[in-house]
Amino acid sequence: MSHIKMNAAKSAIALIPKQGAMGLGSGSTVAIFAKELGQKIASGEANVSVVPSSYQAYQLAIDYSIPLTNLDLTPELVLTVDGADEVDKELNLIKGGGGALFQEKIVASASKKLVIIVDESKLVDHLGTKFHIPIEVFPFSLGIVQKKIRQKGIEPILRQATKKMGPVVTDNGNFILDLKFQEPILNPNQVAIDLKMIPGVIETGLFVGMADEVHVGTEEGSYILKK
Ligand code: 5RP
Repeated sequence: MSHIKMNAAKSAIALIPKQGAMGLGSGSTVAIFAKELGQKIASGEANVSVVPSSYQAYQLAIDYSIPLTNLDLTPELVLTVDGADEVDKELNLIKGGGGALFQEKIVASASKKLVIIVDESKLVDHLGTKFHIPIEVFPFSLGIVQKKIRQKGIEPILRQATKKMGPVVTDNGNFILDLKFQEPILNPNQVAIDLKMIPGVIETGLFVGMADEVHVGTEEGSYILKK
């Protein structure tokens, strides 16, 4: 699998600007991309700084000596490269498998271009086919948010940590609910709006109409889906 992710990451390397600020997404595919980006910077081919979308991305930038910036210094980013958990035919996304959806969406929204790197298994006809929809929830509101979600006929599953007892706590100090819909989602924009209307829901992992290109890694190489 890692060579397939490598094929996706390498495809996006060609888009790295000669200079400027870009967004660095999160996940295992982005980790491969970050290593390549660090090499391009070290060789002098690119003079780029990044806004990290998570503590993971921040650590990747440190590990690979990639200069850091932030959205106060550089509120407009040339490009963001990020991963995804599902991609539908309109290039709408589910993100948040790594719990970083809130900052990822902010960084993506600051970018002129959002490029997604995935392996082919992430492509679906409709979102919610294989993956649950993560939402970031303010801890104080957990009970009432769960109740309102259940009233919609959706099962909210509180994401549990693996190397700590209890729930996952995000980089922002919040919880993640993974929403199990009864059917795949046909209208992701409306679903995203409805979820965000619930007080206590900070952000959803539905990225609707945001991705410009999806670079899909395969066994043999890669191909690009465009909006
Ligand atoms: C983290 C994300 C990741 O980008 C997404 O989970 C994909 O990760 P990977 O490249 O490891 O499959 O949204 O919150």
